[in-house]
Amino acid sequence: VESGNSTFSHLCVLQQLTGTLTLAVFSAVLGSLQYGYSLGVINAPQKVIEQHYGRSLGVLPEEPLLLSENGTGTEKQEVHPSVVMYWSLSVSIFSIGGVVSSFLVGFVGDLRGRVKGMLMVNVLAVIAGLLMVLAKMWKPHVMVIAGRCVMGFYCGEVSSYVYREIAPMAYRGSLGTLHQLAIVTGILLSQVLGLEFLLGNDYYWPLLLGLSGAPAILQSLLLPLCPESPRYLYIKRGMVEEAKNSLRRLKGEYDPSADLEEMRREKEEVEKEAQVSIAVLVRSSLYRQQLFVALMMHLSQQLSGINAIFYYSTAIFEKAGVTQPVYATIGVGVLNTVFTMVSVALVDRAGRRTLTLIGLGGMCICAVAMTVGLVYLRVYSWMSYVSMSAIFLFVCFFEIGPGPIPWFIVAELFSQGPRPAAIALAGCTNWTSNFIIGMTFPYIEALCGSYVFILFAVLLFGFTVFTYLRVPETKGKTFEEIAAVFKKGKKPGTRKTGTETGTGTGTGTSTELEQLKS
Ligand code: GLC
Repeated sequence: VESGNSTFSHLCVLQQLTGTLTLAVFSAVLGSLQYGYSLGVINAPQKVIEQHYGRSLGVLPEEPLLLSENGTGTEKQEVHPSVVMYWSLSVSIFSIGGVVSSFLVGFVGDLRGRVKGMLMVNVLAVIAGLLMVLAKMWKPHVMVIAGRCVMGFYCGEVSSYVYREIAPMAYRGSLGTLHQLAIVTGILLSQVLGLEFLLGNDYYWPLLLGLSGAPAILQSLLLPLCPESPRYLYIKRGMVEEAKNSLRRLKGEYDPSADLEEMRREKEEVEKEAQVSIAVLVRSSLYRQQLFVALMMHLSQQLSGINAIFYYSTAIFEKAGVTQPVYATIGVGVLNTVFTMVSVALVDRAGRRTLTLIGLGGMCICAVAMTVGLVYLRVYSWMSYVSMSAIFLFVCFFEIGPGPIPWFIVAELFSQGPRPAAIALAGCTNWTSNFIIGMTFPYIEALCGSYVFILFAVLLFGFTVFTYLRVPETKGKTFEEIAAVFKKGKKPGTRKTGTETGTGTGTGTSTELEQLKS
């Protein structure tokens, strides 16, 4: 993944697209695609799988119930509480796996190299896929829950790999958003395959879920053809010649001195600044502001309610009176992908702060509109269009900023020393809040009815105000400049822009940090 990211940045600069480079980027991106697929796959077939759960739990008759015309099944039927519980757990256990692995991020990759590390963790994805493919052979709820937990663990490892290394400053944002682009493509793929006439039916649903392991199989076949990450070889292992060879394999015959110089500078940074542990990072006042901003950005991504849409949109559309909810869900997936592309194009021009503000503010307004649509649906039938458009726009605003930006801004806010610990904490916050939404949304919805999105509107309003007051612009700034903004407590967004080269220096050498460490 790292080789993909760093070399892709050079691709932007030099426009040298070799076969090996394409292969490396494609293999790297398969991990993020798999993450997206697993996020989206449980949305469309919810009703079908719930029937299997109900039968295996003994709360539904053995005969399959007929699906309705809109392909979502027995909407008139009350779902048994134990089925609701096991279904919510199947959705959200994925995030528990992610919480655990966010603390182990990079461990395997640092140990054996990126290529071997990825090959090793891919075994997990295959095991998870098999558990789900074979779900009908034993208790489906147990098999699916076990499979999704292992898959979450795998995805936690993979997704955080992507933002561990920082690309040259001018392209940090666009490269960061590529991860999100692969995620949304995975979501869309899972939504299309989840159509009833494809795999989202009584017969094929185990295959639909199990296919989440397929990208790992493809990746395992491709990885041995990819060279090891030049950054790993140079920075972690000090193997200059090997790094040079790797660069040449990726980019063809060229003079690698500029690339090597960039890596040399980064190695220097790493050596200058000792690694800060999670415990030290949490206690140090030096990084408190940055950490607060990083964690709040991840919280705002998840507590915006986005995954209420991605996990449960088919059921939500159905309640909003949409006649073809599964197709509306695919519409969400398409818009989601298109607007992520918009973000890739904008993020290094418009800046992170502006896009996050527009995104969160827009989502807040959409959440209010969704509520109006749901509440007045009984009075005016055309209100279903209001809810549907509001959900579509909600997703568009999300992908403009709050979706992709938190994934890479942590690496921008922290220098080499505290970065791994900050990424682990941010990952843990993201996955934990993802779990909370996945697990509790069906219950909150049952409690609040049509008013459920008001809760998200209030949270979104709070996050918008927070972003306005506390989140600085990081576009084109060195770590030093970013750290200075936090230290001086100047008004965010008003700092001067730094140069477009170099990675800046760390700030973790102060006496306070030394004291904390000892
Ligand atoms: C982000 C979020 C993820 C969400 C996705 C939707 O990647 O981290 O939870 O499902 O965006 O596109």
